[in-house]
Amino acid sequence: MLDFKDKVVLITGGAQGFGRVLANAFAERGAKLALCDINDEGGEETLAQVKAHGTDGFYQHADIAQESDVESFVAATVKRFGRLDVAINNASKEITGPTLDLPSEDFGTVVDTNLKGTYYCLKHEVAQMRKNGGGAIVNQASVTSSMTGVPDNGLYAATKGGIIGLTKSAALQVAPENISINAIASCAFDIPDDMFLRWIDDHKVSRKEACGWLPIKRLGKPEEIAAATLYLASDEARFVVGAVLTIDGGFTAQ
Ligand SMILES: NC(=O)c1ccc[n+]([C@@H]2O[C@H](COP(=O)([O-])OP(=O)(O)OC[C@H]3O[C@@H](n4cnc5c(N)ncnc54)[C@H](O)[C@@H]3O)[C@@H](O)[C@H]2O)c1
Repeated sequence: MLDFKDKVVLITGGAQGFGRVLANAFAERGAKLALCDINDEGGEETLAQVKAHGTDGFYQHADIAQESDVESFVAATVKRFGRLDVAINNASKEITGPTLDLPSEDFGTVVDTNLKGTYYCLKHEVAQMRKNGGGAIVNQASVTSSMTGVPDNGLYAATKGGIIGLTKSAALQVAPENISINAIASCAFDIPDDMFLRWIDDHKVSRKEACGWLPIKRLGKPEEIAAATLYLASDEARFVVGAVLTIDGGFTAQ
C-alpha cells in the first residue's frame, strides 16, 4: 500500500513548509525526488534531508512563473531518472492586504506564479507522463479559494479557486490516458515556516485562537498533509479523478 519505491516524484516549491514535508514523506517510501524552488538555500537543505533517507534526488532552481524554467526542470527530471511518475504542484505565492485596495500589478504577480505556473507545470508534466503511459498529479489548492474567502487574501483565493477549476478540466481531458489529476484544499497546518503560521503571526493571532476556528480544536500535523498527498499520488487512487480532497480539521464543514 502506498509504495513509491523507485517512482520518480517531482515537487515544486520544495524549499520549505509542505514541500519539504512531502519530499521527506516520498523519500521515506523509496521515491526518487526532483525538487525545484526559487529559494536555493532551502531547496538544497531539503535535498540533503531527502538524501539522508538513502534515496536519490536533485534540486534545481526554477521559477514556475516562467514556462521555460518549468520545461527545463521537467526535462532535467527525465534526463536524470528516465521518466516522471508523480508531480506535486505545490509552489505558491501570496500577497496579502485588503483585496480591492492592493496595486493592480500584485494580481498579475500572484496569478503568474499560482495559476499560470500551475498551468505550465500541468502541461509539461502531462506531456512526459503520456510518454510513460500514465502518472499522477496533485495540485495544492486551498480552502481559501472558491470554497471560502478571506478579506485580505483575495488575490491568493482567486488563484487557488482557479487551480480547482483547472484541476477538474485537465483531469477530465487526461483521465482516459491513465493520468490522474486531483487537488488538495487544506488549511491550518503546524509546519515550520509554512504560510499559515506566517499568516497568523502577521495578524497577531495566537495558535490557541487559531485552533478555536477549527471544529477539531487543533492544527493539522505534517504527517496528515503527507498522508493525503501520498494517497492521491498513489496507484491506489487512480479511480479518483478531478477531486478536491479537503483536509482542514472541519473548517469548511461548519
Ligand atoms: N500551509 C498551509 O496551511 C496551507 C493551507 C492551504 C494551502 N496551502 C498550499 O500548500 C502549498 C504549500 O504551502 P506552504 O505553507 O508550504 O507554503 P510556503 O510559502 O511555505 O512554501 C511555498 C514554496 O514555494 C516557493 N515558491 C514561491 N514562488 C515560487 C515560484 N515562482 N517558483 C518556484 N517556487 C516558488 C517558495 O520559495 C516556498 O519554498 C501552497 O500551494 C499553499 O497554497 C498551504
